[in-house]
Amino acid sequence: MRHQWEEPERARLQLSLLRWFRTHRRDLPWRASRDPYRIWIAEIMLQQTRIAAVLPYYDRFLRNFPTLRALARARQEKVLRLWSGLGYYTRARNLHRAAKEIVCNHGGKFPHRLRDALALPGIGRYTAAAVLSIAYRLPLAALDGNVARVLARLGAIRGDLRVPRRWQRLAGGAEHLLARQAPGDWNQALMELGETICTPQNPRCKDCPVSRFCLARARRLTREIPAARRKRAAVNVRIACAILADPRGRTILVREPGAHDSVLFSRLWQFPAVEVRREPLTELGNHLRKLWGFGSPPARLEALPTLRHPVTFHKATLLPFMARVAKLPHLAGTRILALNQILELPVSSATRKIAAVAVSGSA
Ligand code: ADE
Repeated sequence: MRHQWEEPERARLQLSLLRWFRTHRRDLPWRASRDPYRIWIAEIMLQQTRIAAVLPYYDRFLRNFPTLRALARARQEKVLRLWSGLGYYTRARNLHRAAKEIVCNHGGKFPHRLRDALALPGIGRYTAAAVLSIAYRLPLAALDGNVARVLARLGAIRGDLRVPRRWQRLAGGAEHLLARQAPGDWNQALMELGETICTPQNPRCKDCPVSRFCLARARRLTREIPAARRKRAAVNVRIACAILADPRGRTILVREPGAHDSVLFSRLWQFPAVEVRREPLTELGNHLRKLWGFGSPPARLEALPTLRHPVTFHKATLLPFMARVAKLPHLAGTRILALNQILELPVSSATRKIAAVAVSGSA
């Protein structure tokens, strides 16, 4: 492949960006050490998640699991609880499995070889390259959405960047541009540029350290690149859920496998819920009877305020119903606890929202 940046242009571009990064780099907690474990946790948390949202989770997670071995030893329930609210819970499940594998197969130390890193659950090409370049200075280019946008603008690459052949081309360009003397800083500099200057909307080209190398800017194409991705059509779902409350203010949570549960409730603890087609009240009543073998609905179901909850391409409308019962059913696979203690279990943000309206509705 022919590349646009040949020497000495490439070296100039690298130097400009690395200098900028060294003076402007944000003081982020995972930059305080080169411990691969800490860098790995950050990279996993940062997938699909903004830095501001990650920060409190990151500190708390590392306080609870300061080392890879501590994470490997932990119970899955605790790992998920500390992830509660961050979303995409498969990340936490994989992280935990990978920590155990690293203890078993790599003496508790994040592997040095790309092949070994890629064999771990939840670690793809991007994460492996990011961790290995930052922690061990391996010359690997980390290409994520932010970096792809920066490279597409620099090289005036039009079209949907996620199309495999275009992504391949960007990956080739990323390897070619990589500053091999400082691969970790280089990768983070590109990420940082994408997050703070070369943003999707209104990029701040005036503050960009590499704008003089940018073909999109020279050709006035900054707004057109990257091309808008074709959006997946939104799927509307209505989920009715029941908050059963006993006279002591306790409620019951379940873990139900079901079509909507894995998206909205992520196979974590949740209020009993069912996707409704027509009549929320009737369908929820039927669902509870089926779930617990009640002869009749548990009690009067009183509607609480409706909640909107978008997750990826799902647009969920949550219809919470409160039911006051004299006694909660004691059944296998359920948990009974005070409504305001729900955060002690791993729950998704949909369940948190429902608990919040239930607490204010029952006050
Ligand atoms: N986004 C993902 N990883 C990052 C990192 N290490 N620094 C800044 N932004 C990031």
